Amino acid sequence: MLYPDIDQHMAIIVEEGVRVVFTSAGNPATWTARLKEHDITVVHVVSSVKFARKAEAAGVDAVVAEGFEAGGHNGREETTTMVLIPMVRDAISVPLIAAGGISDGRSMLAAMALGADGVQVGSRFVCAEESSAHPDFKQRVADAGEGETLLTLKEITPVRLLRNKFFDDVQSAYSQGATIDDLKALLGRGRAKKGMFEGDLSEGELEIGQVAARINQTLSAEAIVDSIMTEYEVARMRLAHLKPFTA
Ligand SMILES: Cc1cc2nc3c(=O)[nH]c(=O)nc-3n(C[C@H](O)[C@H](O)[C@H](O)COP(=O)(O)O)c2cc1C
Repeated sequence: MLYPDIDQHMAIIVEEGVRVVFTSAGNPATWTARLKEHDITVVHVVSSVKFARKAEAAGVDAVVAEGFEAGGHNGREETTTMVLIPMVRDAISVPLIAAGGISDGRSMLAAMALGADGVQVGSRFVCAEESSAHPDFKQRVADAGEGETLLTLKEITPVRLLRNKFFDDVQSAYSQGATIDDLKALLGRGRAKKGMFEGDLSEGELEIGQVAARINQTLSAEAIVDSIMTEYEVARMRLAHLKPFTA
């Protein structure tokens, strides 16, 4: 919803007969009713219980609850997926999709254990063969280790990025007491495109989640989904064999 030409996006979505729309980064009340008038299934992405409730009240068909670990734009509250999902589960009754830090079958099963009905996976697919990300960005993600992503630019729109020259420029702007306008000027326009699609690893914004530390190869989307499902089944069977807890 941050796009300046969002009205046009929505008009095209309706015109082209899109059946399912995920909205994010804005008020769920703005578009949900209008999209639903066209029989479109609407799912809204939130990072807090407050907005999960708002989304449900706005009439969405499902909610994505995205934790602090996630790549890209994020909530200010810094609530991790582990804490967020059970809270949101207890607060709403529409289907709940967990996001943030889910990259394999084990984390998917964990999200289901926390109360999710499904999962949304972002970062893992950045390195899919089919992904339109620049090959240099894919390689940078595959090389990333633990602690290399951080949430920044909270005053504008919080975003989780890989550390690079642009990230360090933002940090030094903070240390010099930058105002919101200074930060906006530094960010400019098109930084994400520059980093992720044009492969400028120095000046671009490199949006990716904490799971970058767990991604180390490029696979087809089919192979990624197959491995997630196989790992999910193995993890589920392992849990089924846990001895019952007896006091
Ligand atoms: C490179 C990148 C770009 C993203 N862009 C958007 C976006 O434009 N809109 C959105 O709602 N979510 C966006 N996301 C968030 C994903 O939809 C998803 O919720 C998130 O990646 C899940 O957490 P994970 O990164 O730990 O898998 C983006 C994520 C990444 C990694």
